[in-house]
Amino acid sequence: MTTSSSVRPARTPRKEPVFPPDLLSDQVVIVTGGGSGLGLAMSQGLCRAGAQVVICGRNPERLGKAVETLRSLGGKVSAIPCDVREPAEIDRLVQQTVEQHGKIDGLVNNAAGNFLCAAEDLSAGGFDAVVKIVLYGSVNATLAVGKHLIARGAPGSVLSILTPYAWTGSAFVLPSACAKAGVLAMTRSLAVEWGMYGIRCNAIAPGPFPTEGAWSRLVPEASMIEGLVEQRVPMGRVGEHSELANLAVFLMSDASPYQNGDCVTIDGGSWLSGAGEFSEYTRYDRERLKLLFRAMRPKKGS
Ligand code: COA
Repeated sequence: MTTSSSVRPARTPRKEPVFPPDLLSDQVVIVTGGGSGLGLAMSQGLCRAGAQVVICGRNPERLGKAVETLRSLGGKVSAIPCDVREPAEIDRLVQQTVEQHGKIDGLVNNAAGNFLCAAEDLSAGGFDAVVKIVLYGSVNATLAVGKHLIARGAPGSVLSILTPYAWTGSAFVLPSACAKAGVLAMTRSLAVEWGMYGIRCNAIAPGPFPTEGAWSRLVPEASMIEGLVEQRVPMGRVGEHSELANLAVFLMSDASPYQNGDCVTIDGGSWLSGAGEFSEYTRYDRERLKLLFRAMRPKKGS
């Protein structure tokens, strides 16, 4: 490689609200893992669009702080401590949500667990811990909310937060890759099975969206991530939480009533940049690259 091309700054996300404040005003939405990170960002987006939001998680103190933040946006918000791995706790979550808000219209499967580990060092318990949170947790919550919607005869929406490595796989996160692939299979299966009930099942696969929780578990040394974004993300930057929140609101709302069984990737083009055979050439100086291309072109008539 000679010198790398500089990436032009991409358009930055809007700071002002994108959606009308009443877009979700008649909707009650549960967000698992809604007390921090991307779950909290999506909960904020849902509140700003008028939804009543119920956040759940294992840490009551964290949930309490998140409720204060969300209420300051004017949202009607509840926090219900819950471990998504336990079906009985999910049943209680559904029951208490109905008691407090009257019904449930939507679910965001966001709760996750992950850590870096060489597969040959992974214990059975380690695999179990992540798969139980991500796959079993998403299935537990989806089935419970789905049963509620079907019994009510009401339409609804389930959104699951995945990752592009749900379909590519990834080194060093085997349990997470297996679990997220399972949640993608759940999304597509139920999209077909429950479409007749008006229940839409979709997913989002976010690329690099820094959060304290994820970065502390997935970036061993700062030097290992430096330069990676520039090299791997065609847009040349990480994602902003509001960008993910806007996509989640869109997919949960009547702005996308025909979207079903889809997984929308939001990663600045990152996973595809490693896929194309010649994509590495984007890292070369563009003008020099064009000169090389022209030099390779056969002369007319030769
Ligand atoms: N590397 C290897 N194995 C690990 C590990 C690590 N970093 N962390 C935990 N484990 C293993 C433990 O050794 C244990 O397995 P064993 O019984 O076979 O020895 C198993 O995982 C359960 O550990 P424990 O700490 O009891 O799990 P937990 O249920 O309290 O926590 C985790 C689950 C491990 C997923 C934990 O990281 C967590 O709670 N994460 C939630 C937040 C999160 O990860 N967010 C993801 C942001 S990307």
